[in-house]
Amino acid sequence: MDLIDVIKKRRSTRRFKPDNVPDDLIKKIIEAAVWAPSACNMQGWRFIIVDDSKLKEKMVDNGGAVIIKSAPVGILVAYDERTGNTEYQDHIQSAAAAIQNLLLAATHYGLGSCWVCQLPLKSRVRKIFGMPKNFSPIAYILLGYSEREPKEVGRIHPFENLIGRNRFNHSSPQQASHSGSFFYRFSRKAYYLLPLFIKKGFLNKFIDKKFVKKFDN
Ligand SMILES: Cc1cc2nc3c(=O)[nH]c(=O)nc-3n(C[C@H](O)[C@H](O)[C@H](O)COP(=O)(O)O)c2cc1C
Repeated sequence: MDLIDVIKKRRSTRRFKPDNVPDDLIKKIIEAAVWAPSACNMQGWRFIIVDDSKLKEKMVDNGGAVIIKSAPVGILVAYDERTGNTEYQDHIQSAAAAIQNLLLAATHYGLGSCWVCQLPLKSRVRKIFGMPKNFSPIAYILLGYSEREPKEVGRIHPFENLIGRNRFNHSSPQQASHSGSFFYRFSRKAYYLLPLFIKKGFLNKFIDKKFVKKFDN
């Protein structure tokens, strides 16, 4: 497949076959990630392969997305957050570049993947994985063989509306979804502060249902 085909074919997959992913394939995919650009060429990424179901359970029990349990393997991506450029949060940008490489490599090798940021508090993720304080958990990537061919996910905005020349003169600056609203941000903050027993049961399942319903794949 040529690169543009891989880019367009990549879909977020949330339903997987139970089949294990061979270790050498996981490593090939991570190898693609480390060829991403990084601010100051720091290459401060670290990858934790998660195939222990108790750890996945722990992530979910601590407020992570229920779908974490649905993939045979996950990759937790962390990045050294000792950056001078806090204005542009370049450690997150570098990690994101690596993550996109990782997703594209997964597509290239015939695997489904999903970038997940509905995760426990960073302090808790550090504790679960024994991660030092100067590393920031960035995202958790689900990996596995897709249960079925993912449906197409169209682009929301007409392409021409996304491009300006020499100034921000885009014709549709409104939000595509509610996710930046005050209410949404407040609910998310509140969710993190809720006691674990509430998140663990009803609430987590409710959120998961909403997600799975919202996204076909
Ligand atoms: C930063 C980031 C965080 C995401 N977090 C989640 C998540 O927590 N749960 C989830 O199901 N999908 C998550 N996604 C996947 C998006 O929902 C998905 O990319 C979007 O719906 C478009 O679908 P596509 O990836 O198939 O093009 C995330 C994607 C990004 C880039």
